[in-house]
Amino acid sequence: MTRRGHEVRWLAGAPIAAELKASVKTDVAAFRRRHGYAPTLAVVLVGRDAPSAVYLRQILRTCRSLGISGRLVEMPGRASAARLRNAIVALNEDPLVAGVIVQMPLPRRIPLTTVTDVLDPAKDIDGIHPLNAGRLVVGYEGFLPTTAQAAVEILRRSGIQIAGSRAVVVGRSNIVGKPAALLLLRENATVTVCHRQTRDLAGTLRAADIVVVAAGRPGLITGSMLKRGAVVVDVGINVVGDKIVGDVDAASAAEVCSALTPVPGGVGPVTNALLMTHLLRAATAQARREAGREGGAPRRAASRREGGARAAAAGEAVRAADETAGTMAASRP
Ligand SMILES: NC(=O)c1ccc[n+]([C@@H]2O[C@H](COP(=O)([O-])OP(=O)(O)OC[C@H]3O[C@@H](n4cnc5c(N)ncnc54)[C@H](OP(=O)(O)O)[C@@H]3O)[C@@H](O)[C@H]2O)c1
Repeated sequence: MTRRGHEVRWLAGAPIAAELKASVKTDVAAFRRRHGYAPTLAVVLVGRDAPSAVYLRQILRTCRSLGISGRLVEMPGRASAARLRNAIVALNEDPLVAGVIVQMPLPRRIPLTTVTDVLDPAKDIDGIHPLNAGRLVVGYEGFLPTTAQAAVEILRRSGIQIAGSRAVVVGRSNIVGKPAALLLLRENATVTVCHRQTRDLAGTLRAADIVVVAAGRPGLITGSMLKRGAVVVDVGINVVGDKIVGDVDAASAAEVCSALTPVPGGVGPVTNALLMTHLLRAATAQARREAGREGGAPRRAASRREGGARAAAAGEAVRAADETAGTMAASRP
């Protein structure tokens, strides 16, 4: 309850994430029974920055809790683009690895195209490859960027009316803002996308029934910029002092809007859970491809012997994630 007796509904991510993960856990167990090995997620980390390490630990914990195997490929911050490219090519070719994510941000000198030019779209479970981005645009099935998907999934699973609503997305990055706008459009909202050149951000926001904010600017959106009764999804994750805060000033927004996602505890947990659903989908499709290929089983066996050697040839430190993060045991078929 807020000062004026207005009660905001907090759209927590945990219950939605729990539901998604329970279903993945059951399906991973069935996958392991059927195929005799665990689906594997590879996480590539170039250098170490604090927010990445936190995110990574969360992903690895989630993997372990669901029976998914994790492989951490770590390289120093000074690693070259060629070295990163080689590591991704090795993971593309590894039949044990179903999904690959590369932890962002990359060091400034390494362009994102180093990853998007080579990553196998079938293993691109966070939807960064242009092929998956294009599939989203034209409405074909592909891997969606999980954060954008999480923002919309929270709305859908919370029973928020999206069709016919006026939605404003603040931010136009390829991994959050643009795909969130496309997903809202797919759900039949009328969508406006704002960015730093938008002339009247507050005026635009005041017309919105649904607001999704992914700007990376703490407290950018305040209650005075919102329409009474608006529903707000705060995607922002900003470290301010020793706290994690969103892009929305939650105290003033809660006075005005009807529903709001908390930070932390809103979009983040759903993002992780969705990533696991994507991994399982990729693993299932990969197992199907392997089964259709002559000598699928020997390929897996060979990979068990050669996986480490191939990565070592690419010059990378490849470990079961539990050696590094204390969170997850790598399983081998
Ligand atoms: N919850 C999760 O799981 C999750 C996952 C990924 C990211 N995030 C968080 O989401 C936020 C956005 O991430 P991102 O990768 O999309 O960031 P990004 O690539 O930096 O993009 C930020 C976008 O916000 C716009 N913007 C910045 N300041 C603005 C302002 N004052 N007014 C209007 N628009 C403004 C930028 O406009 P221009 O295009 O004009 O520069 C840009 O389009 C970050 O806080 C990030 O940490 C959360």
